[in-house]
Amino acid sequence: MTEAPIFEAEGIEKSFGGIRAVNGATMDVKRGSITALIGPNGAGKTTFFNLITGFYRPDRGRARFDGREVQGRPPYVIARFGMVRTFQITKALAAMPVIDNMMLAAPDQPGESLRNVLFRPLAWRKREQEVHEQAIELLDVFNLTRLADHYAGTLSGGQRKLLELARALMAQPRFLLLDEPMAGINPTLGRRLLDHMQRLRAEDGVTFLFIEHDMEVVMNHSDRVIVMAEGRVIAEGEPQAVRSDRAVIDAYLGGAGHGGIE
Ligand SMILES: Nc1ncnc2c1ncn2[C@@H]1O[C@H](COP(=O)(O)OP(=O)(O)OP(=O)(O)O)[C@@H](O)[C@H]1O
Ligand SMILES: [Mg+2]
Repeated sequence: MTEAPIFEAEGIEKSFGGIRAVNGATMDVKRGSITALIGPNGAGKTTFFNLITGFYRPDRGRARFDGREVQGRPPYVIARFGMVRTFQITKALAAMPVIDNMMLAAPDQPGESLRNVLFRPLAWRKREQEVHEQAIELLDVFNLTRLADHYAGTLSGGQRKLLELARALMAQPRFLLLDEPMAGINPTLGRRLLDHMQRLRAEDGVTFLFIEHDMEVVMNHSDRVIVMAEGRVIAEGEPQAVRSDRAVIDAYLGGAGHGGIE
């Protein structure tokens, strides 16, 4: 028996002025997989993420997460379904300590309602304590514990990326989308991040779709690869098979991108 894919997109299109950034992208993501989304620069990968997570509205096409239509819905609704991508730390968040950034990213906090604070103080305290513990644990995973009380705005680029990821995990996603998560972070932390992805998949059944340019990471850490070029999906399959696919090699050689699969 084959399990239904956790995510399906069909014929997604988006133009910016004269540029067709995404041109009929169709793909499935297997439940419980760690799927890499690759392709030359400008292939439309980031735009595709923006389209399926509610940041842009597609001109055409459908996307379903776990049986629910997601295209055209706002990001917070999609996130509440359990499909989460990392959000950049905004100005407002930059002016807050790291720990507060983490706490704010947790959903359904009883403390958010004054009524609960006043009339259900025990439930509120308990939930707040849970959220705090979860935040501390995640900060530890990404080596950010000692920065818990620092303003997020003072973090380095790499530390910010880790904080963005840690915040996304506070939402306890079932499907996590990551756009070049390793870019700009040091290799030791990169390894921790990959290990943590494996652990979340094994323990909580989290599914991952991550955009990545480093072929070594793709080959060693994904179990499925989807390749985009010029706004569409041109190949998909197991990493080794995709790597030797003629159309994939041509796309990389022909594109103005990285000059081939490294
Ligand atoms: N907001 C926008 N306005 C105009 N053009 C855009 C916009 N966003 C993306 N594009 C264009 O759409 C195309 C696809 O870009 P996109 O960033 O999705 O590619 P990518 O596959 O993520 O590339 P990279 O690997 O370099 O990150 C590019 O030609 C880009 O210039
Ligand atoms: Mg991109």
